[in-house]
Amino acid sequence: MMLIEWKPEFSVGEPMLDADHRHLIELLNRFSEDLGPTRPKATFIEHLVQLYSSASKHFAREEAIMQAHGYSSDYVKHYADHQRLLNEITFMMFEHQYGLPKDEGAITEWIKNWFHNHHATYDARLHLSFPKADCAS
Ligand SMILES: [Fe+2]
Ligand SMILES: [Fe+2]
Repeated sequence: MMLIEWKPEFSVGEPMLDADHRHLIELLNRFSEDLGPTRPKATFIEHLVQLYSSASKHFAREEAIMQAHGYSSDYVKHYADHQRLLNEITFMMFEHQYGLPKDEGAITEWIKNWFHNHHATYDARLHLSFPKADCAS
């Protein structure tokens, strides 16, 4: 099942960030497609590790670009929301590792909602930081 479909309105006007966002959406969709009772526990952890790794690299890039473009209005809240996802994934990994897993469907739903809310609240406003000449369509 495709969890999130890339839409042109997801573009933030910066090609590297758009490529990262597309990659994160791909990972989430793969994660969602692999859900099921017969899947080995290791696979679930591997998905979370991969998501954590890709998300943390993306956040570092996005935060550096925001700073370079003087994005300041709500940088701290934006940064904190990135950390919230990373902390939540870490917590999910610990829970799963110690035999206290949440429902995997609920986890993917939580991540999907985080993505949509984060984009609507923060990433969609990145457009305002980039000069028109830098925008890719
Ligand atoms: Fe962001
Ligand atoms: Fe982002």
